[in-house]
Amino acid sequence: MIITELAQAVNRLKNGLVVAIPTETVYGLAADSTNEIAVQQIFSYKNRPQTNPLILHFHSSEAAFEQARWVPEAAKVLAAHFWPGPLTLVLPKKPHISDVITAGQDTVALRVPAHPLTRELLLNFPNGLVAPSANKYMQTSTTNAVDVAKQFANDDVWILDGGPCSQGLESTIVAFKDNVPVVLRYGAITVQQITEVTKLEVLQNIPMQTVVPGMHKKHYAPKAQLIVTENPVQTLRALTDKTVGFIGVNQEAAKLATAAFLYNPDDLQELATNLYRLFHQYDAQNLACIVVEKPENIGLGQTINDRLKRAATSI
Ligand code: TXA
Ligand code: MG
Repeated sequence: MIITELAQAVNRLKNGLVVAIPTETVYGLAADSTNEIAVQQIFSYKNRPQTNPLILHFHSSEAAFEQARWVPEAAKVLAAHFWPGPLTLVLPKKPHISDVITAGQDTVALRVPAHPLTRELLLNFPNGLVAPSANKYMQTSTTNAVDVAKQFANDDVWILDGGPCSQGLESTIVAFKDNVPVVLRYGAITVQQITEVTKLEVLQNIPMQTVVPGMHKKHYAPKAQLIVTENPVQTLRALTDKTVGFIGVNQEAAKLATAAFLYNPDDLQELATNLYRLFHQYDAQNLACIVVEKPENIGLGQTINDRLKRAATSI
């Protein structure tokens, strides 16, 4: 495990090796999309089933849209507003894109990330880099180089250290039914933002033709037992015999916990940015439980609650 700089990252990727890259959402485990062996290596390092497709990352919207057979108007509008940024668009793919990347589906997931270091890196890869989140399958995504290093301590992965991720939650994934946006995964860009910009009624929670394993109910889970609650003091009082990490806004609850992270109630971004880091930190401290005070289910709160629900489920 070596932390590398930009030129070395380019070299490694050109040689078919794997590099963890910073994005504004979470770190990605990247490989050259034109090198099938390197792409396979990503699945193998993550222990990820081959049936779960990867996102292709590009420097520009033009390069990304070049991969699509057809680009709906709404996709162009979303790209104009949110690329570079934490948005992934699922579009009908052109035939040159490998089935290994798309898991044999007729669509491809495309993203133009905003992190300056990765944008510079992507200039060297006009055909894009594949990059799933840099974590072992079903585990919590990583938002800083140290957490990536721990996940892949035994693998030949180098890390391009771009500092902590500013958003802290994965990109919003949007597919299209004709021209209508369908949110497949909540993310840093909210449903409200998508509606505002496209002026279209956005579809949510509808089963797509293809069931994507990455949308599994269980996902993002820490090792500790995760409890999401609206009454943190009551929950903490019932757990006095256990070591507990608390994440929330209630100061009384924080006093009852072994470790606590309090954020500004008016700033859900602060929670989003720190959530995965705290999961990793509390696991490293071997805490038995993590108690999270449930945020209001609107805007970024909707995304955070989606992740908490998946991370807390035991199936
Ligand atoms: O923020 C992010 O999106 C990060 C950074 C690194 O870009 N990447 C990320 O990748 O979260 P990953 O592989 O952990 O999650 C991508 C999700 C998976 O659930 C996958 O199933 C879904 O995107 N996906 C990929 N291609 C798809 C497609 N053609 N149709 C529907 N879903 C797709
Ligand atoms: Mg992931």
